[in-house]
Amino acid sequence: MAPPRPRLLLGQRQTPAVMARLQKDFTLFAIPETQMTPTELVAAAREFAPEAIMVSSPLPIRAADVAQLPPSVRVIATVSVGTDHLDIPAILGRGIALSNTPDVLTDCNADLALMLILAASRRAAEYRDLMKQGWGRGLAMDEMLGVRVTGKTLGIIGMGRIGRAVAQRARGFGMKILYSNRRRLGAEDEHGAQYFATPEEMLPHCDILSLHLPASAASDGMINARMLALLPRGAIFVNAARGALVDEQALIAALRDGQIAAAGLDVFRNEPTPDRRLLDLPNVFATPHVGSATMETRTDMGMLAVDNIEAALANRPLPTPVTA
Ligand code: 8YV
Repeated sequence: MAPPRPRLLLGQRQTPAVMARLQKDFTLFAIPETQMTPTELVAAAREFAPEAIMVSSPLPIRAADVAQLPPSVRVIATVSVGTDHLDIPAILGRGIALSNTPDVLTDCNADLALMLILAASRRAAEYRDLMKQGWGRGLAMDEMLGVRVTGKTLGIIGMGRIGRAVAQRARGFGMKILYSNRRRLGAEDEHGAQYFATPEEMLPHCDILSLHLPASAASDGMINARMLALLPRGAIFVNAARGALVDEQALIAALRDGQIAAAGLDVFRNEPTPDRRLLDLPNVFATPHVGSATMETRTDMGMLAVDNIEAALANRPLPTPVTA
């Protein structure tokens, strides 16, 4: 007789290929329409006693949730590279293995950052609105002009995998790359990018600023009024990392008064209900946290999460563990 399939609690529906693998190899609890709330996840875990739990960044597991999980849980796999929605010490402290999905989403996240850079600089949101209204009249030569991207100076805060992939793409637009990071990269990874030990030193030189660092207590609200004022007037601001990095009140003020010419934002402090004042600004091009949202990448992320779960349940080393 085949051994019983491990019990897996799925916090979010996954792509068809991932769902097919899960349904073949695991016993699943009810599959959520879209995604569970933390309360639903904890209640389901207590009822179902799973060995594995699969979540993603919109579904936090905080210390109080961890404390309520049944002893059956051996592994939690997040289908995200970010781990700020998880209480890592609480999870590891209970002896539960934890994994995330680095690398597989790097390219798509970097592609989206470039989309935001181009869309914000070239007024994509306003052009789209105008075309939806039927266009109707010729534009004057000096009307609705954007900002040239080619040859500009791009500042990147956070030069990890995604930051470096953004730099690689931006070089194709002839951009000069500046970066600030906890540590300087080796020359083989810098590809001529100029290092600044602090963002403060870099910001005055950036035509475009893009964030690619994780959210943490230390980085919360780091892009505030003082930092935005350090950018040259009319700079472009892009965030495809985490909304918590930004003081949104300060960003709204800077976008209103022209200190920031335009912003491209994929992430917000309050998801999925961002500050309306930000969304209503004509110079904001906004997307709903979709950096990894392609069929290929979401499938790769889901598959990697399942690889981690299988490894943990077989007492093998995890391919992409999250450690303390
Ligand atoms: C989301 C992300 O997880 O990987 C991350 O950290 O933010 C994204 O890939 C994904 O979009 C689901 O919300």
